[in-house]
Amino acid sequence: MRLLFLRPDCQHNCYNALPMFKIRDVLIDPPLVLAPIAGHTDSLFRQAIKALGGCGLVVSELVSTEAMTRRQERTFHLTRFEEFERPVAIQIFGSDPSRMAESAVMVQDMGADIVDINVGCPVRKVVRQGGGSNLLRDLPLLERIFQAVRRSTRIPLSAKIRIGWDRNSINAVEVLKLAEACGLEALTVHGRARCDLFAGKADWSVIARVKEIAAIPIIGNGDVFEPADAGRMFLETGVDGVMIGRGVLSNPWLIRQCHDFISGRNPLAVPIRQKAEFMHSFLQRAAEGTPQAVAAGRMKRMGGYLSRGIPGGARLRALIHSARTSEEILLRIRDFLSHL
Ligand SMILES: Cc1cc2nc3c(=O)[nH]c(=O)nc-3n(C[C@H](O)[C@H](O)[C@H](O)COP(=O)(O)O)c2cc1C
Repeated sequence: MRLLFLRPDCQHNCYNALPMFKIRDVLIDPPLVLAPIAGHTDSLFRQAIKALGGCGLVVSELVSTEAMTRRQERTFHLTRFEEFERPVAIQIFGSDPSRMAESAVMVQDMGADIVDINVGCPVRKVVRQGGGSNLLRDLPLLERIFQAVRRSTRIPLSAKIRIGWDRNSINAVEVLKLAEACGLEALTVHGRARCDLFAGKADWSVIARVKEIAAIPIIGNGDVFEPADAGRMFLETGVDGVMIGRGVLSNPWLIRQCHDFISGRNPLAVPIRQKAEFMHSFLQRAAEGTPQAVAAGRMKRMGGYLSRGIPGGARLRALIHSARTSEEILLRIRDFLSHL
């Protein structure tokens, strides 16, 4: 386990600057990762988070390899990224080794830095088709997928897993060994089983067990909602990196604040007005870059999270949700802002 040094002079019990880490030759610095969140962490959102600082790696939301290999239009939006986001991992899911391999080559040809395999999605539609967390209970198929993707690609390869299918089959250590044997170069471990969905607390002790025996970098994930949580995850599990998801949706500065914390600085304080203005300008850009038919739905989804922690946020959410168009949503936020 890496040594972390408590700084006695820091009021937050934080740590001397943590080392960055590498996924083969891809430098992850700082060692904090924006999690893939379907429906939220598209290129626009990832760029916004990168711009706030502290984020060393972004991962696209999961992309269907069935859709990719059938050249479906929607996948082009999901796999799009900008230079500014680098290093960037594109995450693929599916259950057919040859389609997974073909999609991984497409990801490589797009110029992504890393291809990531989803071995954790609990959604019934994904599981029923054999992909996502279903692979945790079909290791022979997972092995064939790992091997097929590894054989077909040159760029670094990683996977994101849950700790097992259910409480009686926690097999993250076994999956790590399989991943290493197949030539994967990093593993992200979300400390929940498939049966947990998002309930209860993530079990960081399994993440620590995986890290203890791993030869490849391990990224820990689950329940980092405050800067101190990231510090604790590094300390308690010894992971090389920490991935943060839901917390960033309602506090876009969270990764930046985690970086401040682990670097021994006081986490940046963000005034409410700045948060509300971020929300307005982000949703405005989201509206511009999204087809009219889906823009309002997307803005409502994102606005629902971004309005959390703003005084009067519940009223603002209700205003956003009852609006019919993206213009109306923006107008209502502007009106709300003028009364702050
Ligand atoms: C709405 C939603 C969508 C998600 N989409 C993905 C996804 O596309 N790929 C993936 O690997 N994980 C996905 N996740 C899981 C997150 O990446 C992460 O593992 C989980 O939220 C736990 O981390 P957190 O406690 O920091 O949020 C999703 C989670 C949520 C809530």
